[in-house]
Amino acid sequence: MKNISSREPADKLIFALDAAGYEEALSWIELLSGHVGMFKVGKELFTSVGPKIVESIKQKGSRVFLDLKFHDIPNTVARAAEAAVGLNVDMFNIHASGGARMIRETVDAVAACAEKRGIESPVVLAVTVLTSLNNSDLAEIGFETTTNDLVLRLAKMAQKSGASGVVASPQDIVALRRDLGEDFVIVTPGIRSADEPVKDDQKRTLSAFEAIQAGADYIVVGRPIRQAKDPLTACRRISQEIADGLACQNSI
Ligand code: C5P
Repeated sequence: MKNISSREPADKLIFALDAAGYEEALSWIELLSGHVGMFKVGKELFTSVGPKIVESIKQKGSRVFLDLKFHDIPNTVARAAEAAVGLNVDMFNIHASGGARMIRETVDAVAACAEKRGIESPVVLAVTVLTSLNNSDLAEIGFETTTNDLVLRLAKMAQKSGASGVVASPQDIVALRRDLGEDFVIVTPGIRSADEPVKDDQKRTLSAFEAIQAGADYIVVGRPIRQAKDPLTACRRISQEIADGLACQNSI
């Protein structure tokens, strides 16, 4: 698996490259390469621009988190995952609710495909429960459980099936770290400054400092950098918060 376990603060910052098109995405890559650890390419950008956005990030020497949340029958997800290996992404994700067999077949296919190509496997992350769902949404779908319990249950199954980590909401970090151990990768979006009121759609937020202190390995940040007056300064401020969070982790 790719060695992404740097303790360099900026390496723990994943920038959500939620740009409208290729040119805008390129300008963000130009500005932030070397200042963030990874660029997250999601469904919108990948669907409109395609694999060339991954190549452009790689050409700059930066890492890629392909956030396409694969969810299908095991064979289809395994083949899509091989295509992600072919793009040499560093991290990608699948839905844990696709089941243990889907996860296991994907992880095995990724390892075999990477070996064949002579490259390291990307980190396979599992998405547990979308943060847009609450307990009553789960009841409506037919799950008789709470989001907190289902997150832990799916994360444990994902770990047992070979996934390297999870994407988790800020409120789940502590329980996941406690139950899944130190080596399981936790990636956390929903990061907002502790000093400013949240003005957008993120509800369950933590600051970068709090998320890292709680045990997140990586934080995903989009709008707090994209919409800042000076994005590079915002980026440096968040890296400093990560450094402070790491120092507090060490002192626990
Ligand atoms: O702009 P913001 O910092 O909210 O960006 C967070 C990124 O993480 C977005 O790309 C969003 O789609 C993604 N994300 C999230 N919550 C999740 C999973 C992914 O905000 N549970």
